[in-house]
Amino acid sequence: MPATITIDERFISGRVVLRRCVPADATAEYLGWLQDPAVNRYLETRWQEQTLDGICAFVAAMLASSDSVLFAITCDGRHVGNAKLGPVQGRHACADLSYFIGARDCWGQGLATEAIRALCQVGFVRLGLHRLQAGLYAGNVGSGRALEKAGFTREGVWRRQLAGPDGWEDHVFYGLLREEWVAVDPPRSAGNAALSGGGR
Ligand SMILES: CC(C)(COP(=O)(O)OP(=O)(O)OC[C@H]1O[C@@H](n2cnc3c(N)ncnc32)[C@H](O)[C@@H]1OP(=O)(O)O)[C@@H](O)C(=O)NCCC(=O)NCCS
Repeated sequence: MPATITIDERFISGRVVLRRCVPADATAEYLGWLQDPAVNRYLETRWQEQTLDGICAFVAAMLASSDSVLFAITCDGRHVGNAKLGPVQGRHACADLSYFIGARDCWGQGLATEAIRALCQVGFVRLGLHRLQAGLYAGNVGSGRALEKAGFTREGVWRRQLAGPDGWEDHVFYGLLREEWVAVDPPRSAGNAALSGGGR
């Protein structure tokens, strides 16, 4: 990772504030999100039994990771889901992103879109990356829509690559280049010196 993000840093977009996920965030509520079939329908975590110990270990591993960073998505001070940036591919100056809103009463309020916008700020400004990308199950319409609203382009598809909840599903890929982000999100990208760099 080109730079380390401290636990005190905040990345804000709309009502969403991203901060690093810490062991205290590994609560029964967080466990409940991962055990909720409506939430985990398109999450790879659904393949393993989820436990509090497992979540604690994952959060600790993410804090120690040299190529990925796990954020708590917060809204009005409430932890409502998580977002991950990584692994960062340093030589290629790009990274994957993923996210979920676990608190179902918060769905449909634009929080995933804002969390993705905040992740873009982390990736393009704070880490000086050149490209961000995400993959999803074709059936996960809301996730694709949130990426598109944040400026991502649907770039391609691996046909029927994923074992979805109702059978084989296409794996759809989205990407956003730094120069595209500058055009779609001028308020957040304006005046950031890192944007004029080469991405390293
Ligand atoms: C998918 C998910 C991230 C969407 O989060 P959200 O905060 O409700 O999304 P937003 O409010 O930002 O909505 C973004 C757009 O998607 C649409 N949308 C959201 N959920 C949708 C759904 N289930 N079906 C169709 N459209 C949906 C919204 O209407 C909005 O579009 P619009 O402004 O044109 O109306 C959330 O439901 C979730 O976390 N699900 C479980 C985990 C998951 O699938 N994570 C993503 C893995 S790739």
